[in-house]
Amino acid sequence: MTILVTGGAGYIGSHTCVELLNNGYEIAVLDNLSNSSEEVLTRIREMTNKSFMFYKGDLLDKDFIKMVFQKNRIEAVIHFAGLKAVGESVQHPHLYYQNNIMGTLHLLEVMDQYEIRKIVFSSSATVYASSQPMPLSENSITKAINPYGRTKLMIEEMLADYYQANPKWSCVVLRYFNPIGAHQSGEIGEDPNGIPNNLMPYLTQVAIGKLNELKVFGNDYPTPDGTCIRDYIHVVDLAKGHIKALNKVQIESGYYTYNLGTGGGYSVLEVIQAFEKATGKKVPYSIGGRRQGDVPICYADTSTSKMELLWQATKSLEEMCKDAWNWQTQNPNGYKIIDHATLNSNN
Ligand code: NAD
Ligand code: UD1
Repeated sequence: MTILVTGGAGYIGSHTCVELLNNGYEIAVLDNLSNSSEEVLTRIREMTNKSFMFYKGDLLDKDFIKMVFQKNRIEAVIHFAGLKAVGESVQHPHLYYQNNIMGTLHLLEVMDQYEIRKIVFSSSATVYASSQPMPLSENSITKAINPYGRTKLMIEEMLADYYQANPKWSCVVLRYFNPIGAHQSGEIGEDPNGIPNNLMPYLTQVAIGKLNELKVFGNDYPTPDGTCIRDYIHVVDLAKGHIKALNKVQIESGYYTYNLGTGGGYSVLEVIQAFEKATGKKVPYSIGGRRQGDVPICYADTSTSKMELLWQATKSLEEMCKDAWNWQTQNPNGYKIIDHATLNSNN
């Protein structure tokens, strides 16, 4: 039996594929490579010494999804595929509703048709309303403030409705806090297109000299050092949470929601300090204005995921920084393969 991983070539999907293969699962990856590279699949095969099928195509193409279901004995789906840039979603809401909502609807329709009703879905802490007591539990109030977040909330609600309509469905919604870091081998990691929006990839690109300095978005927040606090979680810990979620959908039907975070938080300045200490690299930075939409503090209550998923993050901020830096230094251009022979012949 095979686990279908949509978006398996992406940042979190690729780390989860490694954990799945290392835990003896057979997998098939479906991805349109709109925000990833085929090179990642080669690396996963090399790292695990396992083979698997890759289907390059789009969730917007229902016949393509059907073909994947026809060719594999799929048991459950881990659904990562989606667009994830908040700013882009504000500028191009149509893209987000079409890709994330329509793509998921097609997937669910085909799953229902093939009577495969076990799904683990990538949601986000961004679904929680701002200005509420910390830590955020799964029962905290939800309210999305941008189209990206709204697609996550809508998909959560869609899954709840599917379960309501047919109790054979088994849906686990995972609300990720701030995934950072990379596999400790340095073979796979986060490879953003263009200038990164998120803190850790921006910071590593400053440290390696690709960007001049990090701008800290505001130091006048009501936090001890004035900079925002987030619950950073190592991407490998996060990937392991998916194995536990998969166990859950395999053994019981229902609709469940879990936070995946560490349960604690660090400020932007603390992350910079931890990075400098872990790597010995100085990170030039300056203090800038606040970024629109940022909340001062956000961290998870992880007691339900500990109790019900039997999962807990174990990796420290130091390991997150070390592994992010290891990935960055081993792959200064991400997955882009630089053909030195062509470069030299052009010079
Ligand atoms: P990513 O962009 O690296 O991976 C997503 C993958 O999905 C990419 O490989 C992309 O090519 C593929 N994809 C997108 N649309 C597709 C479509 N229509 N058909 C087929 N493939 C498609 O993102 P990620 O960081 O690995 O995030 C994975 C999931 O987790 C996303 O749904 C994201 O919204 C969610 N999430 C991410 C974070 C984060 O900080 N990275 C936080 C919370 C939630
Ligand atoms: C952001 C998204 C969130 C999404 C998550 C993962 C926003 C408002 N939120 O979360 O919806 O789920 O990414 O993709 O976009 N920072 C700097 N300088 C930088 C970059 C970031 O100071 O150059 C600060 C931010 O103000 C924030 C912290 O670092 O306080 C973390 O930022 P980031 O990595 O972008 O994550 P979030 O904003 O928490």
